[in-house]
Amino acid sequence: MQNNFKRILVTSALPYANGHIHLGHLAGCYIPSDIYTRYQRLQHRDVIHICGSDEHGVAITISADKEKTTPKAIVDKYHEANKESFRRFGILFDNYSRTSLPIHHETAKEFFLDLLEKGFLLPKEQEQFYDGEANMFLPDRYVEGICPNCNYDKARGDQCDNCGKYYDQLDLKEPKSLITGKTPVVKKTKHWYFTLGSFQKKLEEYVAGHSKDWKDNVLQQTRSWLKEGLQDRAVTRDLSWGIPVPIDGAEGKVMYVWFDAVLGYISSTKEWALLQGKPDKWKEFWCDSSTRYIAFLGKDNIVFHTIVFPSELMAKTGYILPDNVPANEFLNLEGGKFSKSRNNAIYVKDILERYPADIVRYTLATNLPETKDSDFYWKDFQAKNNNELADIYGNFINRTVTFVAKNFENKVPVRGVLTERDNDILAYVRSAPQRIGDMIEQFKFRDATMEMMNVARAANKYFNDSEPWKTFKTSPEQCGTTLNICLNIVRSLAVLFSPVVPFSSEKIWKLLNQSGTIGNEEWMKAGETQLHERHQLGQAEILFTKIEDNTIEQELEKLGSSSPVKTEEPAASIYAPLKAQITYDDFAKIDFRTAKIVEAEAVPKSKKLLKLQIDLGFEKRQIVAGIAEKITPEQLIGKTIIVVANLSPAKLMGVESNGMLLATAADGENFALLTSSKDVETGIGIK
Ligand code: MF3
Ligand code: ZN
Repeated sequence: MQNNFKRILVTSALPYANGHIHLGHLAGCYIPSDIYTRYQRLQHRDVIHICGSDEHGVAITISADKEKTTPKAIVDKYHEANKESFRRFGILFDNYSRTSLPIHHETAKEFFLDLLEKGFLLPKEQEQFYDGEANMFLPDRYVEGICPNCNYDKARGDQCDNCGKYYDQLDLKEPKSLITGKTPVVKKTKHWYFTLGSFQKKLEEYVAGHSKDWKDNVLQQTRSWLKEGLQDRAVTRDLSWGIPVPIDGAEGKVMYVWFDAVLGYISSTKEWALLQGKPDKWKEFWCDSSTRYIAFLGKDNIVFHTIVFPSELMAKTGYILPDNVPANEFLNLEGGKFSKSRNNAIYVKDILERYPADIVRYTLATNLPETKDSDFYWKDFQAKNNNELADIYGNFINRTVTFVAKNFENKVPVRGVLTERDNDILAYVRSAPQRIGDMIEQFKFRDATMEMMNVARAANKYFNDSEPWKTFKTSPEQCGTTLNICLNIVRSLAVLFSPVVPFSSEKIWKLLNQSGTIGNEEWMKAGETQLHERHQLGQAEILFTKIEDNTIEQELEKLGSSSPVKTEEPAASIYAPLKAQITYDDFAKIDFRTAKIVEAEAVPKSKKLLKLQIDLGFEKRQIVAGIAEKITPEQLIGKTIIVVANLSPAKLMGVESNGMLLATAADGENFALLTSSKDVETGIGIK
């Protein structure tokens, strides 16, 4: 971190209080922000982590309609539930507020009136969809139709979930009211527009100033908005749930949820300050340019934090802007999208019933969608737990402490003369805090987590190579030295791993009989020798247990099982009869390769065919695949797939195809692309 900052403000996107937090949320936002703040605390920087529930908007009212209850009942229920999920999962917020609190309403009103007075909010009569039967306007998601940009047929009023485009709801094709299912009429209504356009230039400068430190995905989305030219946007809605527009004659209107939600960060910080007994302290974090502000969020929230929120702050004046917005892409589940309605989701509250938080934290941290979408696979979850947490990290700790308990009266052995091997491992561990810290500062949490495990891996190797079970007899002093070093590395690992797996680190702390908490440790000293010789250790405890195959099979069965929209399984078998046997030579003729899909589009006039541009590393190619009914082009782009690279060229509906993509020969739930289980170069052969 640049050292000219006095303090750090960290915010995490306020989740809507209309559903339970799931793994997608964690991977998109809260794991990174929690690792980041825990690390900064260990650096003893003045940091606070602010969050809360987003309790307004049509997301909430629609949920209330669906659950046949009031918006208030919905937000009360989910606010508590999500707060509890975060707590149990170890996401440490300094404050978790709610946008329905008076302190927030006041803050939002203050902004609204200030912007109005300065001429940044202008009233305008506008046409809007109206449901005559339900007697109401249909803001945002209350209307669904076909996306004017990509033709996705479940696009909502103001935004398409498929292509991410924002548009005027009147541009939606074949609009339908979500309430009555009827085609709405168009009716005039008055709304206040935020003059985003007047911030175009300032925003361009702001973004240009971050062209080196912001992530590509964040820069791309933001620049594409700026390139189109910013339009005035309505920031009021005809709804009864929300913050009333504080203007005479605006009865029945509330602020647009995004106008107020981002201000929730400020009101949550105000609430935090009040709870600290220092009511003005929030200003240090929001109004002092010596504060560095980092806003964590998922990719669907980017422009609200790089364009809309900064504009509000600039308009109000006196506030700092986000210094970085390290947004993640999406986490998919077993190759499909997380979806509440299709029961294709894993909720935090549920997974915590069955597994310790740390396993989930670790597996997600090593698989964060930092540069592109990533996938959660149960098999991978099992493998990461069994092969890394248990077999490397847990095993190293376990063999060290049991050896010491058995042979050294459970006391830290005395360190003697150091060998080259001893010096090497000590130097490696000593350099780890800097190395891992740099990665965290650059928001490379995946790399940082893998580097933590590399330290454990090296430690395990050191234990093996040192063969203490032999030296115990041949050279007791050397054996003591080895175990002294191993115990110190256990301590180092507990601190280094603590931003990712805090609960296990606490256990290790007890096991080492360390006083105080890990939170008081100094990150930069984490690699140093700190255990006193002859220090009495605590009770050993199993840290990570292995997950059995049948446990994972049960998880896989559960997915999608209680799906409300699941279609009947076809009676016919999904297993095709086995083909005739082939020899190895037959097999070896096929040149399978990894390839990356860079472009994908429909083949005109064909229902089945998609045209893909793939990158084989050493060359680019076009292939045509008959999968248009099973997967959308958007879902394909960026995927690393497996292709047959030496298939003779063919033309399908007049379009040339140079190779074949591999996928399961099935539909629906059983359709899946063959992809690579991890990120590898494209063009690599497969055997
Ligand atoms: N509630 C939004 C969502 O879940 C995120 C709001 S972020 C904030 O997508 F900026 F408004 F706080
Ligand atoms: Zn679209």
